Amino acid sequence: MAKETVTITDNSTGKSIEVPLLRGTEGPPVADIGKLYSELGIFTYDPGFTSTASCESKITYIDGENGILRYRGYPVEQLAQKSSHLEVCYLLLHGELPSKNQFETFRKNIAHHSMIHEGLKSFFNGFSRDAHPMAIMVGVVGAMSAFYHDSLDIFNTDHRDLSADRIIAKMTTIAAYSYKYSMGQPFVYPNNDLSYAENFLHMMFSVPAERYEPNPVIADALDKIFILHADHEQNASTSTVRLAGSSQANPFACISSGITALWGPAHGGANEAVIRMLMKIGKPENVPKYVEMAKDKNSTFRLMGFGHRVYKNYDPRAKIIKKIAGDVLKELNIHTPLLEIALKLEEIALNDPYFIEKKLYPNVDFYSGFILQAIGIPLNMFTVIFALGRTPGWISQWMEMIAEPKQKIGRPRQLYVGAPERDYIEMAKR
Ligand code: CMC
Repeated sequence: MAKETVTITDNSTGKSIEVPLLRGTEGPPVADIGKLYSELGIFTYDPGFTSTASCESKITYIDGENGILRYRGYPVEQLAQKSSHLEVCYLLLHGELPSKNQFETFRKNIAHHSMIHEGLKSFFNGFSRDAHPMAIMVGVVGAMSAFYHDSLDIFNTDHRDLSADRIIAKMTTIAAYSYKYSMGQPFVYPNNDLSYAENFLHMMFSVPAERYEPNPVIADALDKIFILHADHEQNASTSTVRLAGSSQANPFACISSGITALWGPAHGGANEAVIRMLMKIGKPENVPKYVEMAKDKNSTFRLMGFGHRVYKNYDPRAKIIKKIAGDVLKELNIHTPLLEIALKLEEIALNDPYFIEKKLYPNVDFYSGFILQAIGIPLNMFTVIFALGRTPGWISQWMEMIAEPKQKIGRPRQLYVGAPERDYIEMAKR
């Protein structure tokens, strides 16, 4: 077959080049413009990367038009229904589903690394009691670089594997400790007899004075939430992890930078923002007013939990999460007025021409908060839960990047629109 190319012509000079058109297993073809600058002397301009593939990857595939999300080829619906978060972690990291023996070894490894260095615990005391847990996560995960020197050589595959296991294992412990610290309660050590999700619940909600039995309905729902957040190809936080990693920074530092990028309300912070928005709306009768505000160009208000850069039909994760939320609330016999507001909001928005034309649908964050609230997780921990779920994705993408022989430091260019050269003026003459 003839090599497929795209011709790019600079009409100002009349010069053109043919660039290769690359085809992946699925998804739109990608024009390889790597030689554009050296051959035509021009850059491409794509703020927000709406048309830019930043890397080659075998991990996750999204078809935004058809609401498809697959990890390593497996539909997320099947994984959420049949798999467990730890198995998904293995799949993302290693590319294949584990055999029984491989899974058991992996499970034991993760359990083995669940405690954090005692010295790391003193970091929590340096934070104010009302610190946002995401702030604590950024600091303590980054600080892991100072404790695990035996796994920092990024060019050593054993070190990379060890760091990956440590990060997946210790994130839940760090997250639970950030909550315990804010509550003024003692830190609870992990219990490795429990599953990944149960162990997190145990570290969050156990107190020395009382016995705590994780509720299986809740543990199962949390495990599914983790699965649904586990990876999402080159989103803002994952791209941040890759960009930080491209400079050969250590994995703990890279994951910490991913946590910062996740924090914003346009990304992982949306789950917290959704519940705050619903509380502000207050009652179903107020929904139309807020929908109008979201459409108003003069207002900065947006419907949180609505819209997605890639999904232009529906977010498959939102569909599953909505169902789990309904099941959990029913099972636990919880009635929340916020759910009524959310359902009304969804109904009005989905029938409004503004949202239809712009293809704005509920995303993963719209309903996840109901499950988290039912579990008893406080609002400011919601984005931390997203971070826990996304951790295997971040670390798998980082591992893939480091193992890539063509890997280079990420270094975007710019369209400079500042002042041209001018001479310095002495202060007295300004
Ligand atoms: N409410 C009202 N209008 C919206 C919304 C919304 N939630 N989202 C997008 N729009 C409008 C936006 O004003 C723009 O209108 P116009 O073309 O007239 O200027 C148009 O839709 C396109 O929006 P955009 O901001 O250019 O789209 P984007 O792809 O850059 O942004 C987004 C995607 C998710 C940041 C955005 O939809 C948003 O801010 N949503 C609310 C926050 C949210 O729920 N974030 C979680 C995303 S899913 C979890 C994750 O993976 O991070």
